[in-house]
Amino acid sequence: MSRYSIFFFVFFSQLIITSPYTLVGRSGHTASYMDNKIYFLGGYTEKYFSGTNDFFYLDVSKPFNLDSTLPISDLSNDSRYVNAYGKGVSTICGPNKDTIFLICEVSEKQFYYRFINKKEWDMIPFPSTNQWTSAVCNKNGTYIYIYGRGSGVNNDKYMMKIINTTKTNWYLESYDSNIVPKYLASAILLPDGRIAYIGEIINDFRFNFRNICIYDTNDGTWINMNTSGIEPSPRYFHTAVLTQDGLIIIYGGGSVRRYYPVPDQISVLDTNVNPFNWSTPSKVNTAPSSAPFGGHTATLVGNYMIIAFGHYRNTTHDIVYSDQIHMIDVSEKNNYKWVKSFTPNNTYTIESASTTESENATKSPGAAHAAIIGGTTGGIATIIIIVSVSYLLYRRKRTVIYAPQAKHAINC
Ligand SMILES: *[C@@H]1O[C@H](CO)[C@@H](O)[C@H](O)[C@H]1NC(C)=O
Ligand SMILES: *[C@@H]1O[C@H](CO)[C@@H](O)[C@H](O)[C@H]1NC(C)=O
Ligand SMILES: *[C@@H]1O[C@H](CO)[C@@H](O)[C@H](O)[C@H]1NC(C)=O
Ligand SMILES: *[C@@H]1O[C@H](CO)[C@@H](O)[C@H](O)[C@H]1NC(C)=O
Ligand SMILES: *[C@@H]1O[C@H](CO)[C@@H](O)[C@H](O)[C@H]1NC(C)=O
Ligand SMILES: *[C@@H]1O[C@H](CO)[C@@H](O)[C@H](O)[C@H]1NC(C)=O
Ligand SMILES: *[C@@H]1O[C@H](CO)[C@@H](O)[C@H](O)[C@H]1NC(C)=O
Ligand SMILES: *[C@@H]1O[C@H](CO)[C@@H](O)[C@H](O)[C@H]1NC(C)=O
Repeated sequence: MSRYSIFFFVFFSQLIITSPYTLVGRSGHTASYMDNKIYFLGGYTEKYFSGTNDFFYLDVSKPFNLDSTLPISDLSNDSRYVNAYGKGVSTICGPNKDTIFLICEVSEKQFYYRFINKKEWDMIPFPSTNQWTSAVCNKNGTYIYIYGRGSGVNNDKYMMKIINTTKTNWYLESYDSNIVPKYLASAILLPDGRIAYIGEIINDFRFNFRNICIYDTNDGTWINMNTSGIEPSPRYFHTAVLTQDGLIIIYGGGSVRRYYPVPDQISVLDTNVNPFNWSTPSKVNTAPSSAPFGGHTATLVGNYMIIAFGHYRNTTHDIVYSDQIHMIDVSEKNNYKWVKSFTPNNTYTIESASTTESENATKSPGAAHAAIIGGTTGGIATIIIIVSVSYLLYRRKRTVIYAPQAKHAINC
């Protein structure tokens, strides 16, 4: 009898510990990688298409398999004061790189949050109606560079603002660093402190990849880079991550007219050469049929690109919100593999990270962590594209060129 009780107890407690968090299909969430956890926040779901404030994390400190129960824990109670949203940007920043900054727009009002000490949220409303498409933390965690498009009275302005994270009270510097006359997509911080914006809209409604706009956080200048190699086909809703050996991998994206996945779902930009060089991986195994092509996030953990949620087209060609996580093992440059099992730190070594970083980068305190992070981007940003198609149409008819206002801005 007592044996039975013990058995029952053990079973019961295990049931509590491993009790799975029920994932629901979502799109437009954010993903932030910190302390061996990927924190997911918000997003649209079928039931809440104006957004949610769901908050949960995937534990990547231990092995897991996509076919089994995922090590996901619910943190919704910790986000109950966060406004529901379906488009926002997030980054890990602050002097210790230990805080999730969430910058989101909620029905004309903007809110900036930070998740302090992993336990509490701090929030300030921001009197702006801009739609941010990327947030990048600099190397030392002092500044966050947010890029986006204005709305309302600022409707035709593209801008970058800088948040100073070192103020005791979270504070947004109220200066526009630059006004850039182009719509830019996913942002990647390179080890030398430059931010590469992967994808730009010129005169059509889709992101093009031949020219890469680069903002240098060291001196506040913009440059254009005409890349070489095989330019990815135009798209929207792609994501980008940076590997430890200096390759930017873009994943996903929908074609412009009918919004189907573009044929070249994966492309690689080598940032070790000048100019950067595009290529397509020579070998990639077949993607799962439920792999998303938009609205997902991509986070690099060691050699795994973790692709979460987003949307795909099912066999009857309807768009479905995915409640799944997928992974690509990118350890072999010319042989990317969709895999199901995750092993922490796979073939990743600290050495490979430091050899590809500049001397200066390795000396700064947050640098090693940043290298491990690689980067997370969401497809959220590009939701705005759909919203703004009509606006762009209108804009195209005009020949207005926005004069760069900051002294360093060039036509990028
Ligand atoms: C939710 O969080 C509050 C404050 O952190 C705490 O007091 C409360 O017990 C939590 N509720 C649950 C159900 O965890
Ligand atoms: C952090 O980097 C910025 C440049 O990106 C620099 O202006 C600032 O002084 C640095 N702060 C610290 C504390 O190193
Ligand atoms: C950022 O905040 C710190 C601390 O208040 C301050 O020393 C620094 O000058 C600020 N940076 C800018 C660019 O305002
Ligand atoms: C970029 O380079 C290609 C050749 O690689 C050239 O055809 C094209 O004109 C260049 N574009 C610009 C804007 O310089
Ligand atoms: C660009 O990448 C392709 C494929 O890896 C390679 O064949 C080519 O030599 C590279 N070009 C440059 C200029 O590095
Ligand atoms: C595809 O998704 C649509 C919308 O959710 C659904 O009605 C349809 O049954 C799905 N088709 C298949 C084959 O599952
Ligand atoms: C990877 O290795 C580093 C250094 O040994 C360790 O700090 C980190 O927790 C590991 N990450 C994972 C996901 O296991
Ligand atoms: C490192 O920093 C020094 C001075 O701050 C600068 O002159 C040098 O160009 C930097 N090196 C690299 C590789 O960024």
